[in-house]
Amino acid sequence: MLSQQTIDTVKATVPVLEVKGTEITTRFYSMLFEAHPELLNIFNHANQKQGRQQTALANTVYAAAVHIDQLEAIIPAVKKIAHKHRSLGVLPEHYPIVGEYLLKAIKDVLGDAATDDILTAWGEAYGVIADAFISIEKDMYDEAASAEGGWEGFKNFTIAKKEQESSLITSFYLKPADGEKLPEFMPGQYVTVRTKIPGDEYMLNRQYSLSTSYTPDYYRISVKKEAEQDPNGRVSTFLHDELKEGDTLELSVPAGDFFCNIHDEHPLTLISGGVGITPMYSMLKSIAEKNADRPVTFIHAARNQDVRAFGSDVQETVAKLSNGKSYIVYEQEGLDGDFTGFINADVLKQAANLDGEFFVCGPVPFMEAVIRSLTAIGIPAEKINFEFFGPAMAIKTE
Ligand code: HEM
Repeated sequence: MLSQQTIDTVKATVPVLEVKGTEITTRFYSMLFEAHPELLNIFNHANQKQGRQQTALANTVYAAAVHIDQLEAIIPAVKKIAHKHRSLGVLPEHYPIVGEYLLKAIKDVLGDAATDDILTAWGEAYGVIADAFISIEKDMYDEAASAEGGWEGFKNFTIAKKEQESSLITSFYLKPADGEKLPEFMPGQYVTVRTKIPGDEYMLNRQYSLSTSYTPDYYRISVKKEAEQDPNGRVSTFLHDELKEGDTLELSVPAGDFFCNIHDEHPLTLISGGVGITPMYSMLKSIAEKNADRPVTFIHAARNQDVRAFGSDVQETVAKLSNGKSYIVYEQEGLDGDFTGFINADVLKQAANLDGEFFVCGPVPFMEAVIRSLTAIGIPAEKINFEFFGPAMAIKTE
């Protein structure tokens, strides 16, 4: 239990964090990696380069500080992060290291303003926050290892098949090298893929949604090739251009809290932009196989036909539903889609099933626009689930 004085001190420093939060975490990462370069095997270097992880961590520390006397309020956010931590292999022994360098960074950036009282209070508060993460992650580790077919950490998978889905997206069929049956996952979940590019010193980790329904023999991911010069494109370029059928990748057990319950009865509208189609197709296919009477509407936005993935797969799968519909929205004019331009309130009013639940996935500006439109046509926030690729950042929907 934190003392009232500690709580008061931590809360009193929130305004300082607001101003200096990103500066502190940027400093924190540079000191952390200098002292513990081995952690570069876990962290996404591209996120570091783009400052995205700094923002994510800063936001979370700030949110935790605001709620330090009622941490249960941020448990859903902690769980989302804990899924990612578990899939990356973040362990209890990593927390004191992160805590030590966070305090050092606070001291470094705030200078004399960081009094001993403030540092002690933050040290204690960090301990409480870290314990919350560690205990939630312990349950997740136990679950991943004890699930039928589950395993600890990473294991080798062989690329059994590569299949081009569009000019930018290729599917990888990944079979466990040990031939074991794979654990079930919820449609919408992702896997962390770990690989080492020849010549690199550190492992690279990326999260990819599982892009079809569960089968015990293989997992499928469908990867968009990002621009090679984009730091985020290193792994996708390597997967597309260098890795061949028969090569090996390492995977941890599927994770994530963005999923639909296949067996629910209420209507579902699945809305995706670009490669955001991957978890949506997994949901659609899983429902078509297990609960084909459920009303499902599938709305996908693509720039044009060349970059559209799973076009015929979606049509075939929707045809298996007794009450399924699908719409394609092409951004470019003059193409043979159901709508042209962007998904907006008008499109949603015409296409979506307004009585049900919504799942949205795609690039951040796409999701902001779709969520804003859903809100404008009266869909309550609790009916809208969304996931975007990359570290959790504040989505602006108002
Ligand atoms: C991701 C917060 C401890 C390693 C994240 C994210 C947040 C976060 C907000 C982004 C989640 C997302 O992508 O959706 C925190 C907080 C911590 C903590 C508040 C302490 C209480 C740790 C520790 C490690 C770690 C101890 C391991 C040394 C990572 C990694 C990612 C991540 C590797 C994935 C993103 C990337 O690679 O850039 N964490 N974290 N975190 N965290 Fe933590």
